[in-house]
Amino acid sequence: YSLKNYNTFGVEVSAKYFAEVTSENELIEALQFAKKQSLRPLFLGGGSNILFTKDFEGLVIQLNLQGITEELLSDDEVLVTSKAGENWHEFVQFCLEKDYGGLENLSLIPGNVGTSPMQNIGAYGREIKDTFVTCKVLNIGILETQTFTNEECKFGYRESIFKRERKGEFVILEVTFKLTRKNHVLKTEYGAIQAELQKKQIESPTIQQVSEAVINIRQSKLPDPKILGNAGSFFKNPSITKNQFLEVQKKYPDMPNYPNADLVKIPAGWLIEQCGWKGKQIGNVASHELQALVIVNKTGKASGQEIFDFSSQIIDSVAEKFGIELEREVNIM
Ligand code: EPU
Repeated sequence: YSLKNYNTFGVEVSAKYFAEVTSENELIEALQFAKKQSLRPLFLGGGSNILFTKDFEGLVIQLNLQGITEELLSDDEVLVTSKAGENWHEFVQFCLEKDYGGLENLSLIPGNVGTSPMQNIGAYGREIKDTFVTCKVLNIGILETQTFTNEECKFGYRESIFKRERKGEFVILEVTFKLTRKNHVLKTEYGAIQAELQKKQIESPTIQQVSEAVINIRQSKLPDPKILGNAGSFFKNPSITKNQFLEVQKKYPDMPNYPNADLVKIPAGWLIEQCGWKGKQIGNVASHELQALVIVNKTGKASGQEIFDFSSQIIDSVAEKFGIELEREVNIM
């Protein structure tokens, strides 16, 4: 079964078995089938954060559970629950149409709601952990549902318990967010948002205008996976110790940096660009010409292995020039 349309890199790979599930019962059925046939299950949402380097010998389960429900808590607060298979951006748009605030900075992030807690998706100063309340999951081992609170998810920068300690144990079925109904708390300090609002001479923006600004910024430098295969940022922004930073800064005084507690975060896009990779193409793969952190399937014909090898070359050259270790953000399968 071809997975080309189920991964945003557009890599041509296949799965031995494939099932699309639209309800909890169908999911359980699929898992029981996998168990009986001794097949390894793999769960796919929007396929926007995965790189397949070879064919998958097990059962790919595409999670397509749909539906959004709301519960008003007060004049100012609402709980909104979305099933895992809803498209993330459409979910954000749904909230904005109802004038529910809190997710506007996360507009246009590819993928589905169900995968958003996996890596605590974030952009422009917001992460889902800021509004996340709970998620309902299926425990794959015992086929029973359970609930994780915000704290139990152990969210960090592009991190959660689902990616680390309890990896592979659960499928996320639905996610609940607490959003504002009138006293919206905007986050617009990010330079690019400021510039975008100034350009339009907007002084006190609405949540919808913040969303539009974010959409404009993203569209201006991030490639649309429908046109050019990619998985957004391929690497995480690395954090280094203060001492290490002071050391490299001597040699590279222009290095952008974001101090955070004892560590300093360095934008990977800058490191990669400094190594000469921005816009560079090898075979079918390239670093995006407008944002070096994004690796693209330039010709549409790249294999997963080719993309992986390209990313390894980037890691090597950044390590060599700066002594900084880049970590892949995309899941490698
Ligand atoms: N930069 C360069 N060259 C580049 C790209 C970036 O020098 O090719 C520099 C910029 O000039 C700026 C800094 O790096 O000084 C940061 O760049 P940018 O604002 O584009 O953000 P980023 O750190 O590269 C992160 C997230 C994005 C998110 C943006 C906005 C990670 C790994 N990436 O990118 O998330 O949209 O911030 O908040 O944290 C994603 O995860 O898929 C993603 C797109």
